[in-house]
Amino acid sequence: MPAQPPARPSTPKGDPMYRARSLFQLLILAALFAPCGLAANSAHPLAPLPPMGWNDWAHYQCDYTAQTILENADALVRSGLAARGYNTVTIDDCWMQKTRDSDGNLQADPQRFPNGMKPVVQAVHALGLKFGIYEDAGSETCGGFAGSGQPDGGGKAHFVEDAKLFASWGVDYLKLDGCNVYAAKGESQNAAYRTAYRAERAALNRVGRPIVFSESAPAYFQGAPDWYDVLSWVRHYGQLWREGDDIATFDPKHPDAPRFQSVMWNYNYNLPLGRFQAPGNWNDADFIIGGDSGLTLAETRSQLALWSMMSAPLILSSNLSQLGAAAIAVLGNRAVLSVDQDPLGRMATLLRRTSSLDVLLKQLHNGQDAVAVLNRSPSPLHIELSAADLGFSGSGCQFSTRDLWTGAQDTQASVLDADIAPHDTAIWKIRPAPTCGAPARMGAITRIASGLHRDAESYTLCLSSTGNAEACSGSSSESWTVTLDGALQSSARCLTAANGKVTMQACTGKAEQRWRYDLVGNLISRSDRQCLTGTREGLSVQACGHNLNSQIWSLPTAWLHP
Ligand code: GAL
Repeated sequence: MPAQPPARPSTPKGDPMYRARSLFQLLILAALFAPCGLAANSAHPLAPLPPMGWNDWAHYQCDYTAQTILENADALVRSGLAARGYNTVTIDDCWMQKTRDSDGNLQADPQRFPNGMKPVVQAVHALGLKFGIYEDAGSETCGGFAGSGQPDGGGKAHFVEDAKLFASWGVDYLKLDGCNVYAAKGESQNAAYRTAYRAERAALNRVGRPIVFSESAPAYFQGAPDWYDVLSWVRHYGQLWREGDDIATFDPKHPDAPRFQSVMWNYNYNLPLGRFQAPGNWNDADFIIGGDSGLTLAETRSQLALWSMMSAPLILSSNLSQLGAAAIAVLGNRAVLSVDQDPLGRMATLLRRTSSLDVLLKQLHNGQDAVAVLNRSPSPLHIELSAADLGFSGSGCQFSTRDLWTGAQDTQASVLDADIAPHDTAIWKIRPAPTCGAPARMGAITRIASGLHRDAESYTLCLSSTGNAEACSGSSSESWTVTLDGALQSSARCLTAANGKVTMQACTGKAEQRWRYDLVGNLISRSDRQCLTGTREGLSVQACGHNLNSQIWSLPTAWLHP
């Protein structure tokens, strides 16, 4: 389906015009920013693969010192996880004081950092790691410390000075949160956030050092129509962005409090957003808390497998020196990490969702696919997936398979089968034989039930060919094929919009059966330019509103990239 591609250069890279224009743009940028011009979205993106590392927040919140950071940096190396790719150590909120010095500079908290920040950065670098830091696009961080943004009521922001200070310390990665962002009278929140994040981008362009830029802006709009507008602009400025709620943090007063529901919630709100990401620009579903208290080993496997299927950043946030050998083996599993770090950077497609399981498929760069099955239920589950279940219709289709947890291989499988423990996730790489043919552009089409009620189980509705969007059951009426000319097909019939009504009809290829998909997620009928709308009353086409929940759809995303 001709999705409106994420706004990357629309001219094909091989096109001589594109090359000429890029060269021209480079010259202009070099002239503007010489001698220290570094563009954000150049031909060599700063984060071509989802960033990996460690951050203190989800385990320690503000309860840390320089020593805590360095002990974890050390554990990252000693555990072997750094060598597996977790290479950036980021200090989150609370590292700075509430006020600036007399020159307007940020000051590190002297209790936590008695020798300042620079030696800490140097020590992290000396371990062969990169160093990340936290700031805020508003007047104060979420913890109430000095922010980089405009003061409340308006005035001078500090983006440039702060970016220069970070560069002088050797910072490689900046997480810019979005608490306390000031919006002038009459200015929309969306515009205020955009101005602030754009200013940070411009500041980073001036410091002569490549700094990966993680934006928290979308998280401040989750559940509101503007969420999709903010998600549409963040990639112009940064390499990754948080779209929603924080993952549950460790609470020393209740160390064993279960945290899997929080993992499920973040997974659920991240999965439908694949259309916003592509190599160099990543949706960030928040920290990997797997291995820490509150998650079983099965749940740790699930978090790593699901994040990897979504090409999500993998930023551990636990006390690394307390990770057990089994958790280290899971978090360092090379085969699963290679799914996360696959250069195509696809979001997994939700092939099927029932009340107890999700089946996901992710296209990989080398002709392989990754398949994962999450068992959300409290009971063990046996699963068998045929080639047809995975979208391969070629006769006698067989594939070679590798179970990424056990390493078990089969060179001539015709089904994938596994016993999956409660809250565990099975994950395989498969290589289909040529007889299998290309995978169908197949999967569930979903929409969000309501803006925000933080209930992973009821958040997502599945479009059904019986004429509505309903609780996902995994039935064949929820399996859709998106044809190349933009028809939505289920059980060999096509979704048809005529006279405001939406019905399933025999497929004809006419405009009333063809849909345009745009970046925010509207499905727009080619015949009357109206939006597919799902309400309690059923399906209809109606005038497209401003990012209405009833009109925002997620399609099998693996096939929507430019
Ligand atoms: C939140 C953010 C967390 C952490 C915290 C610090 O807004 O989502 O990841 O950075 O602020 O105060």
